[in-house]
Amino acid sequence: MSPLAIIGGTGVDDLEGLEIVNEHGIKTPFGEPSRPIQEGRLGEHSLLFLQRHGSPSAIPPHRINYRANLWALNSMGACGVVAINAVGGITESMQPGRLVIPHQIVDYTWGREHTFDEGQDGRLMHVDFTEPYNQGLRMELLAAADAANIPHQASGVYGATQGPRLETSAEVQRMARDGCDVVGMTGMPEAALACELELPYASVCMVVNPAAGLGTLPLTLTMMQDTLVREAAVVRQLLRQLLRSR
Ligand code: HPA
Repeated sequence: MSPLAIIGGTGVDDLEGLEIVNEHGIKTPFGEPSRPIQEGRLGEHSLLFLQRHGSPSAIPPHRINYRANLWALNSMGACGVVAINAVGGITESMQPGRLVIPHQIVDYTWGREHTFDEGQDGRLMHVDFTEPYNQGLRMELLAAADAANIPHQASGVYGATQGPRLETSAEVQRMARDGCDVVGMTGMPEAALACELELPYASVCMVVNPAAGLGTLPLTLTMMQDTLVREAAVVRQLLRQLLRSR
């Protein structure tokens, strides 16, 4: 069976229990991925793992080579991608400590290489992106969360911002009016590129802070860090359950 790929985000630099059997430095027509792709085994299952910020984490969200990352995973035969994303919570139910399996996206990013379509084929690539996440993979994640008794939000709208700065409170209010439930910086163009490659893609978001203007404190990375460490452990538990049920 072809391996599932995991794209780790902030706070998920490795997968505990993942036995690395190989590392693949891959060159793609779009350059090199954030780091060599790790091929490993978690229990009986083979898996591909890529930390999108590089390792040790250093590449900021607007500098990540999303095209190379997705291309490389696809060329290694990934059957799908589960992306891990740290986010701020906008809707009241999206409290720090929550896991969210989003179902929709609003894209506010700009200036990123967001398509494989360079006009090279002489045909236009208007992919259907009505449902940005793969339903089957989302359902598997939801079932795994239920099976492992992991509290989660079964849906949510992911607002992707450019970063690397955090948002102003007015931007967060606007995003709330737009229907966004959570805000993060790495969900796009990753999801759209996976769609262009017809690679099933779903996301697990870890809410690590109330979005700007919604909490009492100024937002600091250290404040997010503690929640992140706790949530990353739950995400690993979720992934183990997901693989077990495959
Ligand atoms: N905004 C954008 N990205 C984030 C946030 C946030 O509040 N928290 C974690 N990633």
